[in-house]
Amino acid sequence: MNILGINAYHANARQVGAQLSFDTRFLGLGPNLRGLHLEVEMAGRREELHADSVVGAHGASPVARTAGWPPIDIRGSAAFFSGVCLAEAGHEVICSDIDSERIAQLQASRMPIFEPHLDRILAAARNSGRISFTADAGEAIRGGEAIFICVGTPPKESGDADLSAIDHVARQIATEARTPKLVIEKSTVPARTGIELRRALTAYTRNGNLNFRVASNPEFLREGTAVEDFFHPDRIVVGVDEESSAADLREIYRPILEHRFHCPVHEGKCPPGHEGKFLVTTINSAELIKHASNSFLALKISYANVIADLCEKIGADVEEVTYAMGLDPRIGAQFLRAGLGFGGFCFPKDIQAFIHLAASVGVDFDILKAAERVNKQRIDRYHEKISKALWVIKGKRLAMLGLAFKANTDDIRFAPALEVLKRLLSEGAQVHASDPEAIAKTKSMFPQALYHEDPYEALRDADAALVCTEWECFRTLDWERAGKLMARKLVIDGRNLYRPQHMRELGFEYYSFGRD
Ligand code: UGA
Repeated sequence: MNILGINAYHANARQVGAQLSFDTRFLGLGPNLRGLHLEVEMAGRREELHADSVVGAHGASPVARTAGWPPIDIRGSAAFFSGVCLAEAGHEVICSDIDSERIAQLQASRMPIFEPHLDRILAAARNSGRISFTADAGEAIRGGEAIFICVGTPPKESGDADLSAIDHVARQIATEARTPKLVIEKSTVPARTGIELRRALTAYTRNGNLNFRVASNPEFLREGTAVEDFFHPDRIVVGVDEESSAADLREIYRPILEHRFHCPVHEGKCPPGHEGKFLVTTINSAELIKHASNSFLALKISYANVIADLCEKIGADVEEVTYAMGLDPRIGAQFLRAGLGFGGFCFPKDIQAFIHLAASVGVDFDILKAAERVNKQRIDRYHEKISKALWVIKGKRLAMLGLAFKANTDDIRFAPALEVLKRLLSEGAQVHASDPEAIAKTKSMFPQALYHEDPYEALRDADAALVCTEWECFRTLDWERAGKLMARKLVIDGRNLYRPQHMRELGFEYYSFGRD
């Protein structure tokens, strides 16, 4: 199978109804997917959406496609990240969306989201003709041999994953397909979804002789470092029940596995030791690996946060404790940062879905329920610190540094900062917020707050600075300068970005998590 240099693979992606979709150029026009109804709760506000999407990658032999549906915007869409990165790796990609405005935006190489490096590689792929955008799914499905499904799986009221987008795409694949397909789940789904997917494909096909192979290929990309993660994966997991499916997926990932790409992150100087493993498992295992990984990371964060609470009570320093813990390779140093806790569209929903899955098969996963509870309490703990330091919140002018759920993204879904913001506004504080990328999205949700591109403007005359996201620009802020602008030299650090002693030497009253 010849892949490299000749664009033997063609990625295709499409989202319908929400905001974005992607198609490969082979894929012709087909009926738009409409009518999926969904309610999403975001920072306390319920959004009603009608959406669906398909994303795909199509190649000479084999052909791969991806289907994707993010509920609010394309943020978090493995389909979008993967589609652009596949183009960068040398494949030919077409993206489509029924939102003509969004398509026009992408055709002009304008990124609908902020993700480091992605704008540059999207522009390069556009210029080279490896990626393009259109508005069809049906023909995309008919033209491809393999279809990646990356639709959103948001939480239902019960915490269970809403798989209606998967079901919708499966039915569309079944009805549009005219030739055998390899259908690959890329969405984060509960174990055993593959079984239902196969059942839906078989049930809805118009041609009883069509063979649908099903596989699982969970995504481990992090927002903010998605491009780096794509080109330097720790592992590529493929869950299959036929050897030919594993062989096809290995071909699709061959440029990454054999390092046959020009790394857009390190510009040819990639650090050594990044040999991603290609793991072939059963479909059930692959599905479980994604939920088990995300839940374990969430568990680790909550564990560090409980240690932080303990440190406060007994006078220890959480940074010293977690640093020493992390030196043990059995524990590992990452995801032990204490603070405001985890947010985003992955951990909170995945942990709930995993708890739900375990309960549905009679397995006690109380340990995860505790992790979730600890995480929710982080906002209470932070609010207590603010109340204690300020005495009265009403009427205070507060500088909030950080809105996004983490650094290097404009994603505010389930961002702890927004929960803090909501409470402060409801208590009558005047909030002046700053974030390098997330102001526009937050403004539309919280028009009562005031927003400043320049963090020093947010800090002007402030009674306190509240650090809510771990952006590098906040880590390196000139606090001497900031102190001269503020009405009161008070910093309540929700991300443990500064050394307490240093802040006190600068004359600040300083509070953080798990440290004196
Ligand atoms: C997460 C996983 O890390 C990815 O491997 C996975 O592919 C992705 O979900 C997904 O399921 O799509 P992501 O949500 O982008 O990625 O962000 P993370 O870097 O995992 O951070 C999640 C949250 O945890 C953030 O709010 C961050 O501030 C918080 N966090 C992280 C901590 O509070 N402490 C830490 O030590 C690390």
